[in-house]
Amino acid sequence: MKVIVANHAGFCFGVKRAVEKAYEQLNKKDNIKTYTLGELIHNPHVVNDLYEKGIKSIEDINSINENSRIIIRTHGISEDLYSKLKEKNLEIEDMTCPFVKKVQNIVKKYYNNGYNIIIVGDEKHPEVRGVNGWCNNTAYIINSSENMEIIPKFNKACVVAQTTITQEQWEKVLKILKNKVKELISFNTICDATNKRQKAAEELSHIVDIMIVIGGKKSSNTQKLKKICEKNCKKTYQIESKEELNLILFKKDYTIGITAGASTPGYIINDVVNELMYKKGE
Ligand code: F3S
Repeated sequence: MKVIVANHAGFCFGVKRAVEKAYEQLNKKDNIKTYTLGELIHNPHVVNDLYEKGIKSIEDINSINENSRIIIRTHGISEDLYSKLKEKNLEIEDMTCPFVKKVQNIVKKYYNNGYNIIIVGDEKHPEVRGVNGWCNNTAYIINSSENMEIIPKFNKACVVAQTTITQEQWEKVLKILKNKVKELISFNTICDATNKRQKAAEELSHIVDIMIVIGGKKSSNTQKLKKICEKNCKKTYQIESKEELNLILFKKDYTIGITAGASTPGYIINDVVNELMYKKGE
């Protein structure tokens, strides 16, 4: 069997920065307890490791004492929640990815200038919920060109993208919006890391027999990679770690493509590759 890893796969710059910041806290000797607001990244291995080392994730800031330290994850938070953290006198380590911060700033600016805000993305995703919180939770959120009826005809609107959606998703929605909104200002805020991972995965999925997409089940960008690969390679599987390889049937002459979501650490990718090297196939 031959194994090829996509040119761009695994930890992106924003996630790497946030994870390093979390581990950095473990070396501090100031007796301030550190928490993450929500699971730091969508990867259970990293979240469990941090938990075992003493950094818990919390959902509700009322569950912790004042003067604790709180890490804001890459997805960012709403403006309102940000103020609450400050009011509570928490020490804030803001690891909102700069690409997400840029979306929050755009939304705030155009909302204050009287534009309706449209976000193309998943309304349940923490990044989208956070961004919506910079326009007073008034955004119209659409995930695909199939539910466009929720968008009324506007005179003016500003549309942004969740950083991890696909170009195809963005372009389809934008095309329809152009006919619905008189004055439409659009910002394609899909991040560079997402673009690179998606392109590399797409190219690879054309030339392999089987694609393995490594990443957390809750990870939005991993799910998008899977969807992209499935279009070209029917045998596409998403796994979180090497243990799940046992559920997949491999043949001796297979060429196997590997890609991984932006929250998958390099050591998990290496584990999977090493495991495949020892597999004989049928
Ligand atoms: Fe940031 Fe993009 Fe990663 S938004 S956290 S660089 S996937």
